[in-house]
Amino acid sequence: MFSLFECALTFTFVSVVSSTGVSCSSITNLNIPGTNILSITGNIVLNYTVPAVPPVLLSPINGLNFCSVTVVLTHPNENDTVTTTIWLPLSGWNGRFQGTGGGGFSAGLGPLGLGSAIQGGYSAGSTDGGNLGLFFDILPAALTSNGSINWPLIEDFGSRSVHDMAVIGKAVTEQYYGTPPLFSYFGGCSNGGREGYAAAQKYPRDFDGVMAASPVPGFAKISVAAMWPYTVMVQEKTVPSECVFNAFVNASIAQCDGLDGVLDGIISDVESCFYDPYTLVGKQVACDGEIVTIDEATSKVVQMVHDGLTSPSGEKLWSGQNWGTGFVGLYVGNLATSTQNGTTTPIIPEGSSQYIKYLLKRDPSFDISSLSYADLTALFHQSVAEYEAILGAGNPDLSGFRDAGGKLLSWHGLADSLIYPNGTVLYRQEVDALMGGTEAVSEFYRLFLAPGVNHCGGGYGPVPTDPLGALVAWVENGTVPETIAGQFTDGVGDVVWRDICYYPLVSRYDGHGDPKVASSYDCSTSRGLV
Ligand SMILES: *[C@@H]1O[C@H](CO)[C@@H](O)[C@H](O)[C@H]1NC(C)=O
Ligand SMILES: *[C@@H]1O[C@H](CO)[C@@H](O)[C@H](O)[C@H]1NC(C)=O
Ligand SMILES: *[C@@H]1O[C@H](CO)[C@@H](O)[C@H](O)[C@H]1NC(C)=O
Ligand SMILES: *[C@@H]1O[C@H](CO)[C@@H](O)[C@H](O)[C@H]1NC(C)=O
Ligand SMILES: *[C@@H]1O[C@H](CO)[C@@H](O)[C@H](O)[C@H]1NC(C)=O
Ligand SMILES: *[C@@H]1O[C@H](CO)[C@@H](O)[C@H](O)[C@H]1NC(C)=O
Ligand SMILES: *[C@@H]1O[C@H](CO)[C@@H](O)[C@H](O)[C@H]1NC(C)=O
Repeated sequence: MFSLFECALTFTFVSVVSSTGVSCSSITNLNIPGTNILSITGNIVLNYTVPAVPPVLLSPINGLNFCSVTVVLTHPNENDTVTTTIWLPLSGWNGRFQGTGGGGFSAGLGPLGLGSAIQGGYSAGSTDGGNLGLFFDILPAALTSNGSINWPLIEDFGSRSVHDMAVIGKAVTEQYYGTPPLFSYFGGCSNGGREGYAAAQKYPRDFDGVMAASPVPGFAKISVAAMWPYTVMVQEKTVPSECVFNAFVNASIAQCDGLDGVLDGIISDVESCFYDPYTLVGKQVACDGEIVTIDEATSKVVQMVHDGLTSPSGEKLWSGQNWGTGFVGLYVGNLATSTQNGTTTPIIPEGSSQYIKYLLKRDPSFDISSLSYADLTALFHQSVAEYEAILGAGNPDLSGFRDAGGKLLSWHGLADSLIYPNGTVLYRQEVDALMGGTEAVSEFYRLFLAPGVNHCGGGYGPVPTDPLGALVAWVENGTVPETIAGQFTDGVGDVVWRDICYYPLVSRYDGHGDPKVASSYDCSTSRGLV
């Protein structure tokens, strides 16, 4: 059996444990402002295994022993039901609380986020956000029976449920261990990254540090803009196979790879990369057992995907994807085509499709397959007007977070094919403009752009190995992250480390060191070396 006494003995971070807490099943009297608590249950869980769910969790986590506390609440007059789960390690608590984020339309990933957090010694929280959706499916509850939007649920998903989780997590942690967490963190990727930005903007005192990866600051914009590549292929009546798209990926990498001084198959300096897809017109590529000659229509589709969502009158509404990025939309098909029996068809991006049907058209049977550019433009404006303030995390005013001493460590893959990194860069530029410039903002907010990396990981480039650890050192020790370490396996199977630079710096090869060693690179402001 694990006793509370044992917890206190193995508690290494806080030097003096002033008091002991209550047992797992005795958590009670939580006073969470603005909520009515419906139930609190606590159970000891021993030898628990979190199964692997790639790509979110690559290998299982075994042998977890923890107190699991489930808090169900509602907000007065809102008729919502939000479930928050807090896991508290039975031994080795590191004195910190960590809120964990979700992905897609999930506000939290449950055991997938909680498992690794408690394995690292944190007490940890996850919220279901009232269940707007699960990954890329929006649940019918998003629409009330009379066809109007369930706004309390939207508010829960937008930011309120993460706030409740922070308050609950700290309170439960204090009751259980008999001492409050010394520091509180948030960690998440994708929608989880958005939740981190939203917390810093809307509830700036909830977390001492926020680690927000591949965030979605313009959630209501991106949810429509992600339909752009599909719509372009349909409207231009041109559907290139993935292999044909790869000819453009390869050609753009071949052109821009060397901008950082080294030919390694990775574009580090995307802003200096001016690739012209029309240079491939007339070129032949071997694809799917035949020779395909690239035509103008195909190059036009590629250019339009790079340009991003544009109105019929030519107004650029949202960023496109960087050169060197694969035209594969991960498991949801941001831009994916499927080639079968010699016929290539475009795949509708599921998340965007659900968002438009449920939240914009308020009609789950709406046919999304043949939207015009004008339709998409109108949907974009509707989405911004109705949802960006509540679902987005694009308010550049981080003064509350800065003044509370908070630190925001964010990273985004430069070859993210699902959530284009430019949206995060644009947000950062707005913060810089509002809050005293790049240097001043970098005192509390650093954005690390990982060359070649896809959404939350993958791709071909250095994936951050421990961004949360870098954040903790920054918050607690004042160790300012000049770079964060990243790792990948290169084309010949060597494990390569690189130090990832923070915006606006880019990695540049020093010209003489071993190209496979991180110290052969530095972070530089210079662009366009060729
Ligand atoms: C813990 O669970 C694993 C299976 O996941 C099992 O092999 C092992 O014997 C269990 N250990 C204890 C102490 O029960
Ligand atoms: C409250 O929500 C439940 C579903 O959770 C629904 O059945 C019920 O109709 C709702 N009540 C009101 C007044 O909207
Ligand atoms: C639809 O129902 C909601 C509550 O579920 C109510 O607030 C709203 O006024 C209703 N709308 C219409 C048009 O009846
Ligand atoms: C693109 O490059 C990759 C990696 O070198 C290669 O496997 C693939 O065949 C290339 N595709 C095309 C269409 O050239
Ligand atoms: C990204 O934003 C910059 C402006 O900051 C713009 O010049 C560039 O074209 C954008 N890239 C994409 C792929 O949209
Ligand atoms: C492709 O061809 C195979 C065998 O001829 C057939 O079984 C399959 O249904 C076809 N698939 C599509 C998508 O047409
Ligand atoms: C903070 O610094 C101390 C002393 O150098 C070190 O032992 C500790 O590991 C550091 N903590 C973090 C979170 O980096």
